[in-house]
Amino acid sequence: MTKKALEVRSLTKKVKNKVIVDDVSFEVEKGEIFGLLGPNGAGKTTIIRMIVSLIGRTKGEVFVNGYNIDEQFKESMSEMGAIVENPEFYKYMSGYKNLKHYANMATREVTEERIKEVVKLVGLENAVHQKVKTYSLGMRQRLGVAQALLHNPSLLILDEPTNGLDPQGIREFRDYLRSLTKQGISVIVSSHLLSEMELMCDRFAIIEKGKLIHVSSINQLANQEQFVPTVQFEVDDVNKAFELLKEHQLTNDWKVEEGQQFSIKVDKETTADVNLLLVNNGIKVYSIHPITTTLEDRFLALTSKGEQGGKK
Ligand SMILES: Nc1ncnc2c1ncn2[C@@H]1O[C@H](COP(=O)(O)OP(=O)(O)OP(=O)(O)O)[C@@H](O)[C@H]1O
Ligand SMILES: [Mg+2]
Repeated sequence: MTKKALEVRSLTKKVKNKVIVDDVSFEVEKGEIFGLLGPNGAGKTTIIRMIVSLIGRTKGEVFVNGYNIDEQFKESMSEMGAIVENPEFYKYMSGYKNLKHYANMATREVTEERIKEVVKLVGLENAVHQKVKTYSLGMRQRLGVAQALLHNPSLLILDEPTNGLDPQGIREFRDYLRSLTKQGISVIVSSHLLSEMELMCDRFAIIEKGKLIHVSSINQLANQEQFVPTVQFEVDDVNKAFELLKEHQLTNDWKVEEGQQFSIKVDKETTADVNLLLVNNGIKVYSIHPITTTLEDRFLALTSKGEQGGKK
């Protein structure tokens, strides 16, 4: 069996009897960009802090590249590089000196060569000898990633990495993360923006009120099986159509729209069946029109399902 980049099992955090992370389990594949998506206060940072052992766990197990963080703490820490909240730098020192400083504290030996390598990797060659106070936010963010990568981890964990970046900066950052995965590095990013996750991640978990309510690939969300779209039909006799559909139990979420139109929630195959049924019974079908919903709508539909204690 190939090892997962990360395995999280039943991760739970209770603070003063309040459960802030509730039985969260997920896996990250090698070379994958995995997202933790959820609104403010959902528990994303708390999950990340537990994974990187900045805070203790109430319950649960974490394996990094096969290493159990309880039993093989040093090995598992060596496999991870993280930015939790904003990376802190000495502003009056150059980027290079900052990296050098961190290199001296790293869990694995970091050579001069490696420092040069990460600087190149994040594209800071030209600025690395300037003082950090002259850096733009995007450059600081990249220096943060360079720092997290110094000890050559196989898993990079970034909490809200695009906070404060402009669209151009976000785009560059995204391309840059993708290039890291080509070198076999797995990445976890958190965000409260679905649109961002959609562009950045291979798969993501939706976290809400401390619970993981859904794990999905972007494709699945766009093409969700359980998501049944609304389809609008225009016919010559709405009442007769209603009777027919009722008889065949196809009237879920039946709604009469303006004039000769009605809408029902049916998948693609059933749409064809409904059409056939109507036509075979002498009803004229003038138009069939799926009402498209955005990814955002589907995301909201999923998260509100979670609120009702839905699917894990
Ligand atoms: N040490 C703590 N003591 C009590 N409550 C805490 C503690 N740390 C976090 N919380 C609470 O746990 C919940 C989750 O917080 P967390 O910071 O993990 O959310 P988040 O998803 O990272 O949010 P954001 O998008 O705002 O960064 C919040 O309601 C927060 O107030
Ligand atoms: Mg957070």
